[in-house]
Amino acid sequence: MDNRPVGIFDSGLGGLTAAAEFKKLMPRESIVYFGDTGRMPYGVRPVSEIKIIAQQNLDFVRSRGVKAVIAACGTISSTADDILAACALPVCGVLKPGVKALCGGQYKTVGVIATATSINSGAYQREINALRPDMGVIAAGCPKFVPLIEQGRYSPEDEEVMAAIEEHLAPMKARGVQAVLLGCTHYGLIGAALRKFFGPEVDFISASQTAAAEMAAYIQENALAAQNPGEDSYYTSGSAREFELLGKLFLGRDISGLVDFVPPAPVR
Ligand code: DGL
Repeated sequence: MDNRPVGIFDSGLGGLTAAAEFKKLMPRESIVYFGDTGRMPYGVRPVSEIKIIAQQNLDFVRSRGVKAVIAACGTISSTADDILAACALPVCGVLKPGVKALCGGQYKTVGVIATATSINSGAYQREINALRPDMGVIAAGCPKFVPLIEQGRYSPEDEEVMAAIEEHLAPMKARGVQAVLLGCTHYGLIGAALRKFFGPEVDFISASQTAAAEMAAYIQENALAAQNPGEDSYYTSGSAREFELLGKLFLGRDISGLVDFVPPAPVR
């Protein structure tokens, strides 16, 4: 038994999709969530900056006394694996669990969508090739998605959302992918719009969902489940008020009055 919370962080609201999945699986666990909205988006930053940010975010959630961490960010998971691996606490990124689920399927041709930095790192493609060298992989960076989603814009009725999807993903659709890995934790929100675009035949695998399931399994297998959890807490380096308003959509529950501001740290 371990009553300490689980730390979860991302560049902003996207990681709340992993938090929601984790709480669904482990309702008795408490979480410390850090959304780095003040420094969002990560996905267009150079790798050198992402590594610094990854260390700072780990240090922050560790300072809140967590027992384990979900790095709920595809960009950090694909470019700062060394930083995550060096942490003294158990850390679960989103890349490996998502890739494992994708590669477990009977697919011949798959798509991977994530931020530009994640896709340019080649980490998703390498990891899939290592597990399933027979699988055709089409990867696409989608830099227009996160800024739209952070404004609460992800509806399939929103023309700008559908135009961004068309712009980033028309070539992938034309290749006839059978499954798409959502390699950025923000993309769960845009799921209905992606479904409209790709049609009902294509499967979607969420990196948020698979990472949450991996952390839940780790806690259970290692007898680390909480018996008397504390309260969940939320921190943002952006506007706490905005985080509360939009966070409700991502998390599926009201977090009014629960979000504290922490000033964004310098990256250089
Ligand atoms: N949600 C993050 C990811 O999974 C970061 C998105 C961003 O800030 O660009 O990559």
